[in-house]
Amino acid sequence: MPRTVTLAGGADLEGFRRACRALWAEQVEPGRVRWRTGGEAAEALDAGAGPPPSATPPFARALHVPAAFMPLCEQVVLHRDAGRFDLLYRLLWRLQTEPGLRHDPGDADWVRAREMAREVHDDMVKSADGGEAPRSLLALRVALERCRECPIGEHATQAVPGEGPRHARLMFVGEQPGDQEDLQGRPFVGPAGQLFSRALAELGIDRRTVYIGNAVKHFKFELRGKRRIHKTPAQEEAAACLHWLETEIALVDPEALVALGATAARQLMGFAVAVTRSRGQWLKRADGRRVLIALHPSALLRMEPEDKEAAYAAWLADLRQAVASKGAL
Ligand code: URA
Repeated sequence: MPRTVTLAGGADLEGFRRACRALWAEQVEPGRVRWRTGGEAAEALDAGAGPPPSATPPFARALHVPAAFMPLCEQVVLHRDAGRFDLLYRLLWRLQTEPGLRHDPGDADWVRAREMAREVHDDMVKSADGGEAPRSLLALRVALERCRECPIGEHATQAVPGEGPRHARLMFVGEQPGDQEDLQGRPFVGPAGQLFSRALAELGIDRRTVYIGNAVKHFKFELRGKRRIHKTPAQEEAAACLHWLETEIALVDPEALVALGATAARQLMGFAVAVTRSRGQWLKRADGRRVLIALHPSALLRMEPEDKEAAYAAWLADLRQAVASKGAL
């Protein structure tokens, strides 16, 4: 009996991953799976909704996913070819059962998957050149990397897009990547990011369940000797970046946002917000989305040691409202 997997949409990577884990746990061979996407008539089994990890039979072999496979999937799922999920699941299955496969670049399945990834990438570049707004977070990442609408990108190591689940209900927005973020290509991983992660953990928020990004996508700095010192982006630079932030918000479609600091608050609201006066308050954007105003973690790092503890407690209390906010998590 073939198994039918119904994914939420044509590019439902998360659903595909879950389904792969469930199918592998049950040792369902690739030839026995029919992949469907949301728009098509759904049939019986929905392995995408599949058994939770705890329901995985204890005897099932662990699924090994080589590091390069997920980035390949991210692109291939965006291809129009109706056989893309078949191909990816077959490759994943074969990677488990044919040890030499990952070192065989001439294998027909590899060749086809790489070809599809390249076609998707080329399409993204074409739409970015045509001025179209990216239609996926991956396309956004490609477009950001090429952006030179303001001078900042010329000097940064790379663009730093936000990270988190595509449909996270809560989105945090900072100012711009710092030195570490610029080097690692991930938001909030330097000293301010570590304080932010600690706050999330203390609030019981799993960082992986929320979307975390920045108002400006490249690191602006000035060189002092060998050190790169953060410089606040100018209003025109932030304004040039606004459409990227709005694209990100439209793609993630969060129920609520948290503005960390003045730059984020201004970009999200469209007017200057006095953060020290408005912190802990919810404002409403023109699109109806609610925005909680909070201090930026760097502001806490800069405080006098004797003020830090109380300020941190007050910051946590402000951020706690985002957790308490109905349906935000
Ligand atoms: N500060 C920010 O605003 N964003 C980061 O990603 C890191 C530091």
